[in-house]
Amino acid sequence: MTGQRWIWSYMVVIAATWASGASARAVNAAAAQEETPLHFLTLGDWGLNGDQQTEVAQALGNVGGIFHPSFLVSVGDNFYDVGVANVTDPLWKTAFDDIYTHPSLNITWYSLLGNHDHEGNISAQVAYTNVDRNRRWHMPSSWYTQVVVLPDGLTTLQFVFIDTVIMSPDFYFNELEGMVADGRRSRSAVDAQLAKRETMRSDADVQLDWIKTTLSSSKADWLVVAGHYPVYSGGSNGNNPDLQDDLKPLLEKYQVDAYLCGHDHELQVLHHNGVKYLVSGAGAKLGKYNPIKQNRFGASTGGFMLQSFNSTTMTINVYDTQSTVLYQEFVPRVRNL
Ligand SMILES: *[C@@H]1O[C@H](CO)[C@@H](O)[C@H](O)[C@H]1NC(C)=O
Ligand SMILES: *[C@@H]1O[C@H](CO)[C@@H](O)[C@H](O)[C@H]1NC(C)=O
Ligand SMILES: *[C@@H]1O[C@H](CO)[C@@H](O)[C@H](O)[C@H]1NC(C)=O
Ligand SMILES: *[C@@H]1O[C@H](CO)[C@@H](O)[C@H](O)[C@H]1NC(C)=O
Repeated sequence: MTGQRWIWSYMVVIAATWASGASARAVNAAAAQEETPLHFLTLGDWGLNGDQQTEVAQALGNVGGIFHPSFLVSVGDNFYDVGVANVTDPLWKTAFDDIYTHPSLNITWYSLLGNHDHEGNISAQVAYTNVDRNRRWHMPSSWYTQVVVLPDGLTTLQFVFIDTVIMSPDFYFNELEGMVADGRRSRSAVDAQLAKRETMRSDADVQLDWIKTTLSSSKADWLVVAGHYPVYSGGSNGNNPDLQDDLKPLLEKYQVDAYLCGHDHELQVLHHNGVKYLVSGAGAKLGKYNPIKQNRFGASTGGFMLQSFNSTTMTINVYDTQSTVLYQEFVPRVRNL
């Protein structure tokens, strides 16, 4: 499939150059050097069974059918409103299998936990990794790493998937208190969450040590961290001070190329101190875009992102529900090991 695409783009180049009169031999040499990139999709905040989830899923399938992504990264709030209860929760069918039906989406979904997932049974999201009959759900634990090799057989891309909810208890509990205040949650439901606060805190310490070790020992050519909460965001929920204190210095120190996240229900690309911050939380709901100085792009629309990597360049593509590219950026590789 990738081969067909390659031949197609090669023929387009040939035709264009033939039309402009250049020699086909030169084109042949140039085409031979162009690497086949690795493509993947980034989708967040989706398992709603409503709003724009279906429109986004259709566009995701269209774009998947063109690029044949190797996998998808799900940046949390996988299931609304309070995660899943167990591995047989009907949401696995109604909000996942029945929605993302395009064959090109039957690929590994590297998944992580959002705040709504934490309100449900997070062990069930981990356990589903071993019972998904399509073998696409992948969350071996709340935090994990995965190294993939690009089609050139040499260039490596390492992902570090983390649980940012346990790193930002104030952010999490303040939002829940807000939901008690406006009647969306009961006092007792939020008290049950508050009872987990100390466990979350000690888990967060273990995770932070693991993040430091994993990033500092990475030998990968490209390094990407993914979590649910944004570090920077020109969206409804905004910046996360806990992540700015604990995570941002590590992203900068260890030359992380990009931080993928969701939570705010817009599509945003932000730059800060060499790190690209990508907010892709528009899988179903819509948020309000209020640009901050780090924003290079933002849109309040349903959609997702497609990232393409080769040995020299990361390409960021932001798509809306019409499968239209709203924004594209080419980012050169900077990691210097
Ligand atoms: C990598 O991708 C970029 C963006 O598409 C392209 O300009 C560049 O030529 C590619 N590099 C190689 C070695 O194929
Ligand atoms: C799983 O969760 C669903 C939804 O809350 C519930 O209806 C069902 O009884 C649960 N099944 C088991 C085996 O606990
Ligand atoms: C949560 O999911 C785990 C893993 O499937 C299961 O063992 C446990 O019983 C579930 N908890 C509840 C309260 O259903
Ligand atoms: C998805 O792919 C798996 C193999 O990885 C296959 O067993 C399964 O039947 C496929 N699901 C669908 C809905 O095509």
